[in-house]
Amino acid sequence: MSRSELHRRHFMAGAGISFLSACAPATLRLQPRADGGSERFAQGVASADPHPDGVMLWTRVEALQPGNVSLILQVSEQADFDRVVVEENVVARTRFDNTVRARVEGLKPDCFYWFRFIATDGSVSPTGRTRTAPLPQDERAIRLALFSCQHYESGFFTAYRRLLADDAALPLPDQLHAIVHVGDYIYDNVGGRVPSQDLAIIDLVNPDGSPRRVPPFPSGGVPGGPGGPSSRLAVTLEDYRLLYRTYLSDPDLQAARALYPFIQTWDDHEFVNDSWQGFGGTEALQRQRYDATKAWFEYCPAMLGTGRQPDDAFVAAEVANAPAGKAEADGDFFVNEANNLAAIGALSIYRRLRMGKHVDLIVTDCRSYRGPRGLDEAILDTGEVKYPAAPVPPQIIAIQAAGREANGGSPPETITFEGSELPNSRRHDPPTSMLGRDQQVWLEDALATSDTTWRALVTSTPLMRFGFDMRFRDPHLPNGLLWTDGWDGYPNSRRDLVDHIVTRGYNNVVSLTGDRHAHFAGCVRADYDDMTSPDSFPEFVCAGASAYCRAKAQSLSFGKDAELIRRSVIETETGHYHYRMAPTLNAWLLAGGEAADALGPRLDVAAARQSARDDVNTHITYADTDAYGYTVLRFSAGPVEAEFVTLREPLDQTFESLRRVRFSVGHGSGQAWPMPRLDAAEGDPPLMGLREHMLSRADKA
Ligand SMILES: [Fe+2]
Repeated sequence: MSRSELHRRHFMAGAGISFLSACAPATLRLQPRADGGSERFAQGVASADPHPDGVMLWTRVEALQPGNVSLILQVSEQADFDRVVVEENVVARTRFDNTVRARVEGLKPDCFYWFRFIATDGSVSPTGRTRTAPLPQDERAIRLALFSCQHYESGFFTAYRRLLADDAALPLPDQLHAIVHVGDYIYDNVGGRVPSQDLAIIDLVNPDGSPRRVPPFPSGGVPGGPGGPSSRLAVTLEDYRLLYRTYLSDPDLQAARALYPFIQTWDDHEFVNDSWQGFGGTEALQRQRYDATKAWFEYCPAMLGTGRQPDDAFVAAEVANAPAGKAEADGDFFVNEANNLAAIGALSIYRRLRMGKHVDLIVTDCRSYRGPRGLDEAILDTGEVKYPAAPVPPQIIAIQAAGREANGGSPPETITFEGSELPNSRRHDPPTSMLGRDQQVWLEDALATSDTTWRALVTSTPLMRFGFDMRFRDPHLPNGLLWTDGWDGYPNSRRDLVDHIVTRGYNNVVSLTGDRHAHFAGCVRADYDDMTSPDSFPEFVCAGASAYCRAKAQSLSFGKDAELIRRSVIETETGHYHYRMAPTLNAWLLAGGEAADALGPRLDVAAARQSARDDVNTHITYADTDAYGYTVLRFSAGPVEAEFVTLREPLDQTFESLRRVRFSVGHGSGQAWPMPRLDAAEGDPPLMGLREHMLSRADKA
C-alpha cells in the first residue's frame, strides 16, 4: 500500500464518513467542489518554519456542525496538483478554534511545494505555496523579508502587496525563502480614532466596502490604549481570536501567508503593551497571557515542540491571575509562582532555523522570561501610552536594572529624576533580565554550535541604544532614553550578551529586529556609556507595516513636555498639528538636539548641519522615522545586504515605494566591526536620515 493510500484509509477510518467510497477511486472523490467552497477557509492558508525536509502547514476551517473537522491535506510539486506527493488526514480541533497545524516531512530541500486542504463536503481551501530550506551545505544565497508592527485599523497591509509584486518579477529560484516577522503581528488595542498626518480623524474603508475596524470584542474589552475614550483592549481568548481572524481577513496578509513560509516571534501586543512574563506593567494578567498565547499558537504556525503532533506543543493548564510578590522572583527576576509558570510554560517559541550554508536564524523570545524594565513604573507617564515624562538618564536605568547588585552591591536609596528624589524601588530586587537564564544558556549554545556564514539574531526589539541629546536643556544629559521597553531598558542583559559575543570572537552576528516603527541601521555595543566600548555587530531595524510610524507615534506621546512637543509637531493656522517630526527626529538621533532645533519648522537643512554634533549615537548610520514598509535581507558568502523599503503611509490602496535604501556589512575582525555601509538609494533618502550626509564636513563649510 502506498503512503498516500495509507493516509486515505486512515482518513476514512478515522473520520467515519461516507463521501469516500472504499471501492471508488479516491482521487476522483478528492476533487474540489466545482464552486470551490473556499468560504469555509476564510482565513486562508499558511506555512511556517521551513526545514530542508519539511515545513508546517496551516489553515482554519468553519465547522458545519459542532465538533472537530476532518480534512485532507494535499501537497504537490506542481501548482495544479497533478502530482500529489503527500496526502494525509488532519483534524481541525474545536479546542484550537478549528485551526490546523500539519507538520509535513519527507520533502526535498529548497523546493517549492503547493498545498491545499479539502473538507468532506468537497470544499477546498485556497492553494498555498511554500518553500523548504536548502541543505546545510547549499551555497545558494538566502533572501528573507523582515516585517513587524502591523496595526489593522491604522493602515492597509500594502507593504505585503509591494513585496509580492516585486518578488513575482524575479525568477522562481531567486524569490524569497521566507518572511521573518518579529512581532506586533496583531495589536491588542482596537477602536481608537486614527489620526492622519495632520491629525484629522480618518476612517479607513476596505476595498470590499467594509469598515477597516475590528468588530466589537466578544467580552466588550476594557478601556485603554491609544486613540481616546473609544479605544478598547482585548481581554479574553475569544477577543484575541477575533483579532487574528480579522487581521487574516486582509487580502494582502493572506496572500503573503499563502505564498511564503513565515518565521515568527512575538512582541508585546500579541498580549498587552509593554508586557513581561504574565504581567502588564505592575498588573498580574497570567490568565490573559495564557489565552493570548493560545490564540497565537492557533493562528501563527511554527515548528514547536518535539513530537509530530504539533498540537501537543501547547501545554493546557488552568491559570488564574496571581499578583506575585517580588519575593517569588528568582535571581533573574523570573516570578516562580504557579500561575505565572503555567502561563509562560504553555508554549516555548525560541528556536533556531538554519537556511543553507549562509545563515542560522536564532529566534529569541524577548517577552516571556524578561523581568520588569530597569525603570520604576512611577517614572512613566500614566497617559494613554506609557512613556517617561521626559528622556531618562541612562544611569537611572542602569541602577534600577541592576537591582540589589547596583554600585557593587550598594544600591542607592533614592534616584533623582526631573529634580525629584524618588525611592529606588529596586534596591532589594534581583537584577532584571531580558532573556531569562534558560534562554540565555540556549542562546549561547546556539551561537556556539552555529557554523553558518552569518549568525542572525532575531529579536523583537532593538539592541541598539536610541539616545536623545538633551544638552540643550541639561548639559549632563547627552543620551536621554525614551524607549525603555526594549534592550535600552535592560542594559545589563545587553552588556552580558554583547560581551559574550565579543569574548567568543563571533565575528558574523547580525541582529534583525523591528518594534521601533522606523527603519534604522547601526551597530550594537556592550556599553554605550563607555566610550571605549567598540561597535560589536550590526543591527537592521525594520519599519512597521502599518502601525503608526515612529514620527507619528512620538508626536502623540511626548505628553506634557512642551519642549519636546515644540520640536515634534507644528500647530498650523487651522489648529491642527502637522508632523515635522520625521526629519527632526532623524536629525535629533543622528546629529543632536541643537541640530534638530536648528532644522526647525522651515526644515533649514543648512542650519541643522551647522549645528550638527559628531558625538551623538555614533553607532546609528541610518534613520527613517516616518517609514512604513519592510526590509529585504540577503545572506551569502559575501556581506549581508539589507534593503529598506519605505512606502507612503498606507491609508489607501497605493503601494509604490517612496524609497529603497540599500546597506551592506561584512564580517568583523577582532574588536573592529564595520558599520553598515550605504550602497545605493532609489528615491530621495530620508531628510536628515543618513549619517554620512548629515555630518559631511564639506557641507558644513
Ligand atoms: Fe509595534
